[in-house]
Amino acid sequence: MTGYATHHFEAASRYTVSVGYDRRLYAYDLAGSAVHARMLARQGIIPQADADAIARGLEDVRREIEDGSFPWREEHEDLHMNIEARLRELIGEPAARLHTARSRNDQVATATRLYVRDAADRAVRSLRALQGALLALAEREQGAIMPGYTHLQRAQPVPFAHHLLAYFEMFDRDAARFADARKRVNVLPLGSGALAGVPYPIDREWAARELGFDALTANSMDAVSDRDYAVEYLAAAAAAMMHCSRLAEEIVLWSSQEFGFIQLGRQWVTGSSIMPQKRNPDFAEIARGKTGRVYGSLIGLLTTLKGLPLAYNRDLQEDKEGLFDAVDTLEATLEAMRGMLGGCAVNAERMREAAEDSALLATDLADYLVGKGAPFREAHAAVSALCEIAAERGVPLMALPLEEMRALRPEFDEDARRITAEASAAARDVPGGAAPVRVREALAQAKARLEAAGG
Ligand code: ARG
Repeated sequence: MTGYATHHFEAASRYTVSVGYDRRLYAYDLAGSAVHARMLARQGIIPQADADAIARGLEDVRREIEDGSFPWREEHEDLHMNIEARLRELIGEPAARLHTARSRNDQVATATRLYVRDAADRAVRSLRALQGALLALAEREQGAIMPGYTHLQRAQPVPFAHHLLAYFEMFDRDAARFADARKRVNVLPLGSGALAGVPYPIDREWAARELGFDALTANSMDAVSDRDYAVEYLAAAAAAMMHCSRLAEEIVLWSSQEFGFIQLGRQWVTGSSIMPQKRNPDFAEIARGKTGRVYGSLIGLLTTLKGLPLAYNRDLQEDKEGLFDAVDTLEATLEAMRGMLGGCAVNAERMREAAEDSALLATDLADYLVGKGAPFREAHAAVSALCEIAAERGVPLMALPLEEMRALRPEFDEDARRITAEASAAARDVPGGAAPVRVREALAQAKARLEAAGG
C-alpha cells in the first residue's frame, strides 16, 4: 500500500467527523436514549431486561464521560455512534437493541433541541440578571442628570436612569424572544425515524412527557430536517449581542477622558504594556467585537439550510459549531456586561456639567416661546438664530443679554434664562418621557416587571 493512499483515506474520513465538538451534547443524547429504551420496553418492542441493562449502561457511559475516561474515537464519527459503540462494549448484546425504531436523524434532532431548550432558558436568566444590574445602577444613581444624545451631539438633558432604562427595555425584548423561541424548540422529533416515521408501535406522547417536551413534531420529514429552532436561538442571540454591543459602545465612550462619566471597576479594565496611564475598557470592546461572530453563526446556519432538499442531509451537521460558539459567546458577554455595570463608579458631577451646557436648553427656549403664544416653527427659527450668535461669540446660550433675545422675539422675559437642566427634563412629563417623576415611576414598574418575570 502506498503512503499516499493511506493518507488520502484518513483525510477523507476525518472530513466527516464531528465527535470533536458534538460531544458537548452528550447529556442530552443520553437522556433521549434512556427514555427511548424505556419506551421500547413499555411498548413490548424490546425486553424489559434489555432496557434495564441499557439504562445502567448509559449511566456508566455518563460516568466515564464526566470523569474523562470515556474512549472517544474518531472512527465512530459522531457522539451518537461513540456512545452506542461504548455501550456495546459495556453491556454487550442489549446495546444492539437501543437503535430499534430510531434513526440518528431523529436522535440528533432530539438531542439538539434539548440542548437549545436549556440554552434558551439560561439566556433568559442571564438577561434577567443583566436587567437587574441596570435597575440597581439606575436606582443608585437616581439623582444623576446627563446630556441625552442624538447623532452623538448633546441634545437634551435626561436622567441617567432614563438612559439605563432604555437598555432595560432592549434586554426585556431579548428575553421575550428567547422565551418565545423556546415554545417552538420544545417539540419532540423522536419517532420520525430516518424521514418517514418508524414501523413499530411506539408511544411518542409518553416519550415527549418524559423528556419535558410540550408537543410532537407533526411531520416526520420536517422533523428530521428542521433547524429553525437553532436559527431562532441564533437570531435572538444576535439581537441580544447587538444590544450588548451598543451598551458596550456607550461604556467605552463614557469611560473615556473626553466624557469622563463613569469609571469601570479595576477588574474590567486593563493597562497598556507601554502607556502607564491607560485604563482600557477591554471587556466592553471585546463584547462589541464578539457580536460579529454571533451574527456570523446566524448567517452561516441560514446559508447552510437554504438549498437543502427534504429531508435529512449531512449538511445539517454543520449546525452545531456555530450554535455552540454563539451560546458560549452570548453567555460570557451577558456575564461581562452585568459585571461591568455592577462595578462602575458614576461621576455625576461630570454628567451634570455636560448636561448644564445651556445649548441643551435650546428646545426649552423654543417651547418657552410657544408657551407665550409663538408658533413653534417661528420660535425654533428665533432660538436657532440665538444659538448661532452665542456660538459665534463663544458664550453660553443663556448668557446672551435679554435685549438681544427680545430683539428676535418680544415674548422673551427674564425667567427664560432661568430654565435649568432639571426643569427641561421635568417638563417632559409624558408616559415614557424623561421627567424625573416619570422615571421614578418607570423604575418601579420595571422592578415589578422583572420580579414578575422571576428575575
Ligand atoms: N452527526 C450527524 C448530525 O449531526 C448525525 C446524523 C447523521 N445521520 C446520518 N444519516 N448520517 O447531523
